[in-house]
Amino acid sequence: MSDKKLWAGRFAEPTDAFVEAFTASVEFDQRLAPYDVQGSIAHATMLAKQGILSDAERDAIIAGLERIMAQIEAGQFDWSIALEDVHMNIEAALTEDIGIAGKKLHTGRSRNDQVATDVRLWLRDELATIGDAIRRLQHALLDLAERETDTILPGFTHLQTAQPITFGHHMMAWFEMLDRDHERMADCARRLNVMPLGAAALAGTTYPIDRQLTAELLGFERPAENSLDAVSDRDFAIEFAAAASILMMHLSRMSEELIIWSSAQFHFITLSDSFCTGSSIMPQKKNPDVPELIRGKSGRVFGHLMALLTLMKSQPLAYNKDNQEDKEPLFDAVDNVKGSLKVFADMMPAVTCNADAMRDAASKGFATATDLADYLVRKGVPFRDAHEVVGKSVAYCVDKRCDLADLSLEQLQGFSDVIDSDVFDCLTLEGSVAARDHIGGTAPAQVKAAIARARKKLA
Ligand code: ARG
Repeated sequence: MSDKKLWAGRFAEPTDAFVEAFTASVEFDQRLAPYDVQGSIAHATMLAKQGILSDAERDAIIAGLERIMAQIEAGQFDWSIALEDVHMNIEAALTEDIGIAGKKLHTGRSRNDQVATDVRLWLRDELATIGDAIRRLQHALLDLAERETDTILPGFTHLQTAQPITFGHHMMAWFEMLDRDHERMADCARRLNVMPLGAAALAGTTYPIDRQLTAELLGFERPAENSLDAVSDRDFAIEFAAAASILMMHLSRMSEELIIWSSAQFHFITLSDSFCTGSSIMPQKKNPDVPELIRGKSGRVFGHLMALLTLMKSQPLAYNKDNQEDKEPLFDAVDNVKGSLKVFADMMPAVTCNADAMRDAASKGFATATDLADYLVRKGVPFRDAHEVVGKSVAYCVDKRCDLADLSLEQLQGFSDVIDSDVFDCLTLEGSVAARDHIGGTAPAQVKAAIARARKKLA
């Protein structure tokens, strides 16, 4: 294929060799090839329908593009840095293959509306894949929630034992976080589904094009309203990076909990060997590398969001070459989000709960202190006074190195004379969780209902 630059008509001197490599994007934007071809086929189809190309020219273009795509897929396409980007590589190869008709494909089009279209088509597909990957992880969490609906562990605030909760309830909290992520991705896909083609370089084109038709052919909701905005808008990329960052922030929190829970000190869960690695020096080690790496990757994706925002900041309308820098952060964000979701979903079914250790931890740290206060309130004590009474009982227990449930009825009555033998029902872990029996509460019955609602939603 000839490396002759497609835009070199006015140039007398060749491009500086370093500048050529410096400005080229083909090494990374070649991943857009299927979308570039898809966009070109729709564009050529529209041009022929409008009488701008003949039907024979259209057919030659489409057949040529399909041959090129087959070559690319087979890894036999010769990408050239001198031809700068995916768009000009494909166009040059087309002309080499079919001759003059190839040179007509770019009629009424610019790389500016072309690249904006390609990236949207690509991201639209990736968003669908990411949406499915989120759902897959949600299903894994539902299965685990179902398996461990009654398993009691301490819930924390400030990483200090707060109140007993069930493991199922905790998994359903993660489920909800991911559900909002799924919604954000769907929202991003909906807003990006607008077609730039027809904007050409920035002002539109003089040919009698039918943008509605091209939009329909490519499955876009509608053509973009304004040609300047169409070629320069990268909001959709920033929006995706923001949604991806929030998702990764969630995965980092979930990872952090898995890491803490699997430590020897907590020993709440055991991660499968397949998702851990050893140490080259300390033979006893089993490290939670997978959640750690996901936690680390969140930083990388946040960085891409910053890169994209900064890339767009203060850019005058319309297209600027700066925009070429949108691709690597976007591609990397997509790859890492997909990878993190996949490995998380693979890892969760193999998590085992060490119910005894969780229970032990929940029995320490006065997790049922609030239940005792609520008990006193039910017996007519104002909440603030009840809080004070329980605080004193806890201080007593700390001194005696025991738990509230270990105190005798007489000892408890020493703190408040409204206390009766029924107090022990609310001091047990089961009693405590079962009592939080309302929508969104940790009672196993409520967790079961939440799982059922979630399954229905995902069905
Ligand atoms: N490779 C370019 C990009 O990614 C394609 C658009 C180039 N347009 C231009 N006028 N130089 O943004």
